[in-house]
Amino acid sequence: MIACVPASYLSPHPGRGLTFQPGLTILTFAFHHSTGTETGNRRSIPFWRNKMASVVVVGTQWGDEGKGKIVDLLTGYADCVVRFQGGNNAGHTLVVDGKKFVFHLIPSGILYENKKCFIGNGVVLDPKVLIEELDGLAANGMPISPERLTISEHTHIIMPYHRMLDGASESAKKEGAKIGTTGRGIGPAYGDKVLRCGIRAADLLDESLFRDMLAENVAEKNFLLEKKYNAAPIDFEEILREYSAYAERLAPYIGNVAVELEEARKAGKNILFEGAQGTQLDIDHGTYPFVTSSNTTAGNACTGSGFGPAHIDEVIGIVKAYTTRVGEGPFPSELFDETGETIQKKGGEFGATTGRKRRCGWLDTVVVREAVRLNGITGMAITKLDVLSGLDTLKIADSYEVNGRRTAVMPPTIHQIQAAQPVYEEVPGWQEDIGAVRSIDDLPQTARDYVKRMEDLTGTPAMLVSVGPDRAQTLLLRNPFA
Ligand code: GDP
Ligand code: IMO
Ligand code: MG
Repeated sequence: MIACVPASYLSPHPGRGLTFQPGLTILTFAFHHSTGTETGNRRSIPFWRNKMASVVVVGTQWGDEGKGKIVDLLTGYADCVVRFQGGNNAGHTLVVDGKKFVFHLIPSGILYENKKCFIGNGVVLDPKVLIEELDGLAANGMPISPERLTISEHTHIIMPYHRMLDGASESAKKEGAKIGTTGRGIGPAYGDKVLRCGIRAADLLDESLFRDMLAENVAEKNFLLEKKYNAAPIDFEEILREYSAYAERLAPYIGNVAVELEEARKAGKNILFEGAQGTQLDIDHGTYPFVTSSNTTAGNACTGSGFGPAHIDEVIGIVKAYTTRVGEGPFPSELFDETGETIQKKGGEFGATTGRKRRCGWLDTVVVREAVRLNGITGMAITKLDVLSGLDTLKIADSYEVNGRRTAVMPPTIHQIQAAQPVYEEVPGWQEDIGAVRSIDDLPQTARDYVKRMEDLTGTPAMLVSVGPDRAQTLLLRNPFA
């Protein structure tokens, strides 16, 4: 049987939509704001919908959109949570019953006792940081056994020389060329991976292989440190000792993530992939070179974990109701006035990893539409709507003027992005504190209109609205696992 309905009916807000029988084939149509066209789409409601799903969560902007909070919340419905890229440059904050946790490497699903977490091959892992996180959880009465966490054998390891080279190369760059990295060794570690001289988790466990690989790396890195950067050399024996101890500690956790995920999928488990950073920090699609060194977009959920692309059901894009960026690089809708400061203060916009002040600006739907397209986003999780309370009017950038020409997509070169002047529309704000609201219908009308405008301008339905940092401060409009 075939039904023809607007696409929004497939992801209804409570009380607004229809319920469909599994197995029904549905023809949908949607109005696309950016192109002004109506498109048709054929989608089947699978028979297994209520039994299992694989869902990817990604950041749509420049990171810090609130991924940690949303992953923690959705983990309630999942069986497995997988980090697939990035490293401890990430800082994911969770607040549960008023208690705050920040995770840099461990997946944000770790607070649920009966869920399995994975660190995929696409991650670069600093063992010292991971062990600190494991010890921190144990000290809080949550010891993490190897049954709860598997690290891929193929995960590349961050070494002390990666951190040193990260710092040295940033210091050597001229003002204006600095990336403003987190200094965690991320770029150099991914660099070694691509240059095929990186050390992987499994290599750490093979004593003689590790010794040989380390010796080669130390010789090369010391040449760079001493001759290029005029810095002190590193000591082979010291690193060997330190990392041999990490190897011993982490050995029980190291395994074949791709095989375990395949087994979980076949057993009908719900799998949640936790992205780090944001789409505009993607090494290919972001504001290069002011980006991180991994693919932050949804495709990497598969490559970075060994999971088959055909098994992904949904991609949820986390969209902060305004925009922030930490570190250097262009940011067209950045605010340099009092409003920017108000948002920064009210939103507590300080980096969860480095403590740096985050730059703040208006919502930019050029950026969000880019994310919708690059990730195949099926639903937006809108976060920090509460931070906008108290502003008389809000602005939304929907296109840019670049050297006298209007564009609705991100320009191709860094100079053009730097020159981009956002074209804004103004919408009315709301004064009420919305932190205690628990239903979309109880939001002030102007806040609901703002959410609706976000949906219209991005051509994407909201599946969740977050009105505060706590797990409980969430309006779940549609559950991707239900
Ligand atoms: P992530 O890197 O994407 O996980 O985000 P971060 O944890 O770095 O930054 C998001 C910050 O906003 C954290 O301090 C969260 O606790 C907080 N947060 C998340 N959602 C909301 C929300 O809806 N409202 C407010 N006020 N804070 C939120
Ligand atoms: P989460 O997962 C925001 C930024 C850094 C810098 C650039 C490159 O918490 O959203 P890197 O150390 O990765 O080489 O730095 O990327 N950056 C982030 N910004 N949130 C993050 O992670 C980030 N991870 C890296 O500030 O501009
Ligand atoms: Mg963060």
